[in-house]
Amino acid sequence: MGEKHVIDTALTSLKQILLEFPLKAVYITDKDWNVKKSPKKWSRKELLGHLVDSSFNNLQRYIRIQHEDIPHVVYHQDNWIKAQHWQKLPVARILNLWEAINWQIVHVWEHFPKEKVNLLLDISKETKEIHTFAEMIGDYINHLKHHITQILPQMITVIAAIGKNNELGKGNDLIWYLPADLKRFKKLTSGHHIIMGRNTFESIGKPLPNRTSIIVTRDKNYHQEGCLTAGSIEEAVELAKSDDEIFIIGGAQIYKQVLKSEFVDRLDITHVHESFDADVYFPEISSEKWKEVSREDFEADDKNKYDYSFVSYVRNSQEKV
Ligand SMILES: NC(=O)c1ccc[n+]([C@@H]2O[C@H](COP(=O)([O-])OP(=O)(O)OC[C@H]3O[C@@H](n4cnc5c(N)ncnc54)[C@H](OP(=O)(O)O)[C@@H]3O)[C@@H](O)[C@H]2O)c1
Repeated sequence: MGEKHVIDTALTSLKQILLEFPLKAVYITDKDWNVKKSPKKWSRKELLGHLVDSSFNNLQRYIRIQHEDIPHVVYHQDNWIKAQHWQKLPVARILNLWEAINWQIVHVWEHFPKEKVNLLLDISKETKEIHTFAEMIGDYINHLKHHITQILPQMITVIAAIGKNNELGKGNDLIWYLPADLKRFKKLTSGHHIIMGRNTFESIGKPLPNRTSIIVTRDKNYHQEGCLTAGSIEEAVELAKSDDEIFIIGGAQIYKQVLKSEFVDRLDITHVHESFDADVYFPEISSEKWKEVSREDFEADDKNKYDYSFVSYVRNSQEKV
């Protein structure tokens, strides 16, 4: 029973990686890539090719360790051949291949009889250890995460809630109470670094739990208990370099500067469908620069007074394949 739970959780985690990763890969821009501190500069194609190689190796490994007939789906000849020649494929195809191989791995795991897998011998290891099914999935996911975080540039996300006319706030405070937005904010930012201007920090009034707060200020003597302080936005990003995703949480001055720059990858915006009296505004989201990649629309309800939408944008990729 316990093991089944571990397997289900691991599979859910892998599916989540698969759902999120292509999005990440698609919006790596060359500029971001140049600032990446990697052993060498990778082109997008090399990066994706590397991932195909590693998932492909894993797929082979999992086939090998199964002392059973190979599930039919794994031998999908088309993907098999193309994986060997990924270098010749356009980027979008490599990405598809990466996904296809990983979904096949999910398929193998989901359909292979678990009680047999528990006794499998991993012949790829000299030690010939016995691995349980749950251990194997756990290993695989760690392996995937390791590669993804090693070779992907850090993701920098701007998160904001804005009114119909891009209103952000008034009198150094928010202008609506929308619990659904607060909940989403908490869910997305928890465990990560959040970068904010001094005014926004003072508006919130305390470091948010479960996150590392970085306050941007030109005042060298400024200090707040439980927070880091940075003299510029770049310095704040540098302080957060160990994190795979950094959130820039406002306010207006900070948003204005980062949206002009090239280093933001993604915008997670809550659009509140109402006009408000405000004294600070979010910059225009140019459709030339930003492409909508996901949207969820909600109607007002007992708790949330206004209609609202959660919309994510990523940088328009120059590369069309
Ligand atoms: N709706 C939303 O999602 C949302 C999110 C966040 C905030 N808000 C709202 O936005 C408002 C606050 O925004 P704001 O524009 O007044 O202030 P802000 O952007 O939060 O902070 C401005 C301060 O940040 C520092 N700063 C800005 N750029 C800097 C740079 N390049 N280098 C070093 N320090 C820099 C300066 O601090 P020093 O003066 O100390 O040097 C500046 O006074 C509030 O109404 C808040 O409620 C809304």
